[in-house]
Amino acid sequence: MSNQEPITITALEHTVSQCKKCSLSKSRSRTVPGEGNYDAQVMLIGEAPGFNEDKTGRPFAGRAGNLLNELLDSVGIKRSQIYITNMLKCRPPSNRDPQQTEIDSCEPYLALQISLINPSVIITLGRFSFSKFFPNITLSKARGIVREWNGIKILPVYHPAAALYNPSLKPKLLQDFQKITSLINKNELSVPDQSQMPPATQLSLFDNHFE
Ligand code: URA
Ligand code: SF4
Repeated sequence: MSNQEPITITALEHTVSQCKKCSLSKSRSRTVPGEGNYDAQVMLIGEAPGFNEDKTGRPFAGRAGNLLNELLDSVGIKRSQIYITNMLKCRPPSNRDPQQTEIDSCEPYLALQISLINPSVIITLGRFSFSKFFPNITLSKARGIVREWNGIKILPVYHPAAALYNPSLKPKLLQDFQKITSLINKNELSVPDQSQMPPATQLSLFDNHFE
């Protein structure tokens, strides 16, 4: 196998499962690399795994996830049609905020996910993922407004968990999600089955991409 072997999302997910680049590796039960369609037009980026995600290895698996499903339903999108991940792939203890050093350690995985999936739209959920793209703009001013970043449309919305604590945010989330319909071509949302994805590349070669 040559060094030209393409990196795949499955290989990246496997690499994440072994990652010890920050101290969250010591307290996690499972890594939560992300899931969904590897050929998605739309990618969602949340903050970090919580209790349920850490137990199941799946993003947005708890109450915030139920609200996310409701929001996606409201615009006729299925989870299998998009790719969902987080800024951090491991749970911060007691669900505390991510630390900048953790975000920096984990960032190469997200950068690779974005370049491999190559979405036309990214929805950022909450302030941490929005600030990756636009560090100097506050989310309360930016939410619901589409911005371009490296040719990708970024739609920032509040984090669904915030609406669980503050129900007055839910109508705003529903309203902001409606913007998705004008950004995507619904006919092109159903994309090939993941079983057609090429097999994972040799991981020892792949690991070098993170050094
Ligand atoms: N909150 C997040 O930001 N991500 C999850 O996966 C679950 C809750
Ligand atoms: Fe590695 Fe990211 Fe988990 Fe830290 S949070 S151990 S960088 S996968």
